Amino acid sequence: MIRADHIQIVILLGALLSVVFFLQYYGDTEMFYSPKLVKMYKDSNNYSFPKCERNMAAARISGFDGFPDILKDFLYYRHCRYFPVILDLPDKCGSIEEPEDIFLLLVIKSSPVHYERREVLRKTWAKERSYKGLRIRRIFITGTTGTDFEKERVNKLLKTEQQEHNDILQWDFQDTFYNLTLKQVLFLKWMKRNCQQVNFLLNGDDDVFANTDNIVDYLHGRHNNNGSQHLFTGFLIKNGFPVRWDRSKYFVPSQVYEPNVYPNYCGGGGFLLSSYTALMIHSYSDIIPLIPIDDVYMGMCLEKAKLAPASHIGIKTFGWYIPSKKIDQYDPCYFRDYLLVHQFFPNNMYLMWNQINDPNLKCGITNSSRTIQT
Ligand SMILES: *[C@@H]1O[C@H](CO)[C@@H](O)[C@H](O)[C@H]1NC(C)=O
Ligand SMILES: *[C@@H]1O[C@H](CO)[C@@H](O)[C@H](O)[C@H]1NC(C)=O
Ligand SMILES: *[C@@H]1O[C@H](CO)[C@@H](O)[C@H](O)[C@H]1NC(C)=O
Ligand SMILES: *[C@@H]1O[C@H](CO)[C@@H](O)[C@H](O)[C@H]1NC(C)=O
Repeated sequence: MIRADHIQIVILLGALLSVVFFLQYYGDTEMFYSPKLVKMYKDSNNYSFPKCERNMAAARISGFDGFPDILKDFLYYRHCRYFPVILDLPDKCGSIEEPEDIFLLLVIKSSPVHYERREVLRKTWAKERSYKGLRIRRIFITGTTGTDFEKERVNKLLKTEQQEHNDILQWDFQDTFYNLTLKQVLFLKWMKRNCQQVNFLLNGDDDVFANTDNIVDYLHGRHNNNGSQHLFTGFLIKNGFPVRWDRSKYFVPSQVYEPNVYPNYCGGGGFLLSSYTALMIHSYSDIIPLIPIDDVYMGMCLEKAKLAPASHIGIKTFGWYIPSKKIDQYDPCYFRDYLLVHQFFPNNMYLMWNQINDPNLKCGITNSSRTIQT
């Protein structure tokens, strides 16, 4: 015979298990925010959140005391997923009633102090324009830097840029290497609300050279995919593994990421994705705890979503190599055919963009030109 108190115990155990299950999946973010706040964030444009507090329990992770300070800091604030927006672009993709058709949205991670890099991108590959009738739009995503007067000054700089160019999305968090994943996740949240209808996105750093004409040609040539199917392509890294050496910039201890291999992922310097895939990553990012390496984190979300990242031969995020000293390393004939190359700084960026767009550019004479198959 089943007695009433047995049933109570079973119910109690069940409840306990659900709590454990819930915490395992949502503990990283949602437990720190009341459902009301989360709902408010998702429903409205009210970004005034209470400051995200340090999670003191992080210090109980085994080995915590021996971690580098920056990693400790990461762990203390790992659960923080909501930050106030300082500069917003609510109409970048049109209004809700009248969304604008945007084929390619350039989403460029930029440190607040990189004014010069932003300025040259605005004049070169990241220009807002139409190419073959397809619209290209640009957004720089950024955080804050420094404290007090310095922070204020940099914020004023960004605000001034915003007034002139309307291309900055800024949140109130420290823009550091370990917070890049956070930046990525915050952008996807913003995109879900403000820019769902774009076809494709280029997600990249402010020091890559992207041939946006080629990118649009490539994406437009994906038959059967207008952005509503999976696409995620870049410099594919297979069998990557976490660096367990604590002096490395990329140090990730097993307490943060346990497996000894990373899922396949694309180098973070620049990759292309469809809006479908961006939204899928967004929905998984809500439940996957952040790790400090942003490109690997994208790979983790893709793996959970059962979507594979692909390799594109025209995307070189680990630099490039020209096997002859007789040819200028910055020969435009090489770059004409690429989609994206890391790493370019303002002078070369400006020159290269103008050279590859010069109708008089002559290639092939020295046989230095080659065609990249896609
Ligand atoms: C935003 O939310 C905060 C906290 O709930 C509230 O105090 C504030 O009045 C709201 N602001 C607007 C503009 O709705
Ligand atoms: C990330 O940003 C938050 C908010 O500004 C800050 O408290 C935290 O220290 C930053 N984390 C890292 C690892 O820089
Ligand atoms: C993409 O094509 C599908 C039909 O295949 C259509 O329903 C959808 O609206 C299109 N999306 C965009 C962003 O054009
Ligand atoms: C250019 O290079 C390709 C392959 O490297 C070779 O097959 C071709 O003959 C070369 N053309 C000229 C004009 O040298």
